[in-house]
Amino acid sequence: MTTIDTEETVAPLGFLVMKNLQAASPEKLAEALENPGFGVVFTDHMVDICWSVKGGWHRPRVQPYGPIPLDPAASVLHYAQEIFEGIKAYRHADGSIHTFRPDRNAARMQASARRMSLPELPAEYFIQSLREIIAVDGRWVPSGEDQSLYLRPFMFAKEAFLGVRAAQKVAYYVIASPAGAYFSGGVKPVRIWLSEEYSRAGKGGTGKAKTGGNYASSLLAQSEATAKGCDQVVFLNEERNVEELGGMNVVFVYKDGRIVTPESDSILEGITRDSILQLAEDRGYKVEKRPISIDEWREGVASGDIVEVFACGTAAVVTPIGSLVGEGFEEPQPLGELALSLREELTDIQYGRREDKHNWLLRLDA
Ligand code: PLP
Ligand code: COI
Repeated sequence: MTTIDTEETVAPLGFLVMKNLQAASPEKLAEALENPGFGVVFTDHMVDICWSVKGGWHRPRVQPYGPIPLDPAASVLHYAQEIFEGIKAYRHADGSIHTFRPDRNAARMQASARRMSLPELPAEYFIQSLREIIAVDGRWVPSGEDQSLYLRPFMFAKEAFLGVRAAQKVAYYVIASPAGAYFSGGVKPVRIWLSEEYSRAGKGGTGKAKTGGNYASSLLAQSEATAKGCDQVVFLNEERNVEELGGMNVVFVYKDGRIVTPESDSILEGITRDSILQLAEDRGYKVEKRPISIDEWREGVASGDIVEVFACGTAAVVTPIGSLVGEGFEEPQPLGELALSLREELTDIQYGRREDKHNWLLRLDA
């Protein structure tokens, strides 16, 4: 008997495009792009795809940006069955628009979906949804220094049902928002509040998934941080090992050339972190992914073994940590050159100013 080799492919989705006839005027657009901040202004369109147990992924659309009709019993509103992603589109000097490692975001969204009992969006659909939003809203990708169009794919349970089980009807959307620096002061060292009272995630919980509840549970600690004059919170786990910040990963640079970052089942596997660590390895640094306790951090800084600490994520890129603040103490953190030099190398690749040796970029507008 002969066997026939087959390759499973996903049929391309044909998006229905409904153009926004009240799209921003060139003047309004220019005003919005001048100083966009982070996450406050949105483009003219959004993408959505429906999913149901019976119909699978269907009805892919591009439509005007606007409120989403939702039944008050939609289970996301009650049980928070929701996931999201964060990824940016960058304008290069020749006007073309590129994104960074979208295969990684697509795979992470699938992993988050598995953990949250949501359907896995095929990677092809994820990437196509980014292309669709750029096709209609490409003019919203800013060209100023360190500016980008932040893309926010998200998925939620929309079935109207109050029983506690995985929803049988789900919606996937992509919205887009022009972005400048995540921290209002631009790229300057940030102050971090050590949360001793609250944790973000626990063993066997959802910390590894990019799901709204993790962020909701970080907000009280974040308010505490803001009240203490800090920009972000660092969370510890039950063993007092460092996990991550509310919205970014953390990396430690040692005097002897090692770079250490927490390994844990309950933190988000950052794509920025992975990329930065790859660039550091390319330069000859030795990268260690392992648990690191808060005591090792504080003692390492005190003894001079730790020479830099920085935060990294899509929104924050790479930001040096300038101060660790906790109940009754404030410890300045050593500042070095590495964080900013890795930030420069990464952004040079993202903005097309340096060779993309790892093949991380994907052009979205062609
Ligand atoms: N950790 C948390 C909790 C985050 O929200 C983010 C941002 O997405 C990260 C880490 C960094 O992930 P990435 O570099 O993929 O954006
Ligand atoms: C991102 O960096 O994409 C995030 O999701 C972090 C969020 C706090 C803005």
